[in-house]
Amino acid sequence: MKLTLKIWRQKNAQAKGQMVTYPIDGIDGDMSFLEMMDVLNNKLINEGEEPVVFDHDCREGICGSCSMFINGEAHGPDRLVTTCQLHMRKFKDGETITIEPFRADGFPVIKDLMVDRSAFDRIQHAGGFISVNTSGNTQDANSIPIEKADADDAFAAATCIGCGACVASCKNASAMLFVSAKVSQFALLPQGQVEATDRVLNMVKQMDEEGFGNCTNTGACEVECPKGISLENIARMNREYLSASLKG
Ligand code: SF4
Ligand code: FES
Repeated sequence: MKLTLKIWRQKNAQAKGQMVTYPIDGIDGDMSFLEMMDVLNNKLINEGEEPVVFDHDCREGICGSCSMFINGEAHGPDRLVTTCQLHMRKFKDGETITIEPFRADGFPVIKDLMVDRSAFDRIQHAGGFISVNTSGNTQDANSIPIEKADADDAFAAATCIGCGACVASCKNASAMLFVSAKVSQFALLPQGQVEATDRVLNMVKQMDEEGFGNCTNTGACEVECPKGISLENIARMNREYLSASLKG
């Protein structure tokens, strides 16, 4: 395949960025999107130019680091996949592909396509954990009965990989889908009840402090989420928040 890539280049957080056009040839439909970017970067390095900086780690849809906005969609045109799992066969020979970083006040650009998503870490630190008594009297998790439906919903919420596609897809740059997944995975389980009140209040407070916008129920986050995290989690988080606020 022959392609034309239009890529956001930005030297650092303070620099003014711009779209730069790169023609590329010899792309196989079986390559992943990141392998295609590797081909481009090898070419740029061989030509003495600076390679395009982008985040990646696992390259198998687990780490959530490969944040790219491709042709106007977080993680590109495929559904339920991350950029590293997106295949070039989804594009046509001769196509022009636009590649930008995830854009949100809470995700400042570090360089080119790499953004700073440490705001998500700070939200997690504010309450995305449980405390377990490790004195030797800890109850075996397998001996705590949990409804199958609750276990399934908790597991589904726990599949959130913190990629930030929900924020990038939302016109308000809201992080509600991410935060609600992190709240829900504990809210549905007995182990999460001890800190439930503080958890939701502290995580929502941190979310607001990080500059993410509010949810206006457009549902774009659910559509673009590579892990299919459901909007039901946002409804659950709102209920948790209301009941925690009344207790507080
Ligand atoms: S909710 Fe989905 S889109 Fe948002 S961070 Fe989690 S996995 Fe990514
Ligand atoms: S590189 Fe880890 S999810 Fe894409």
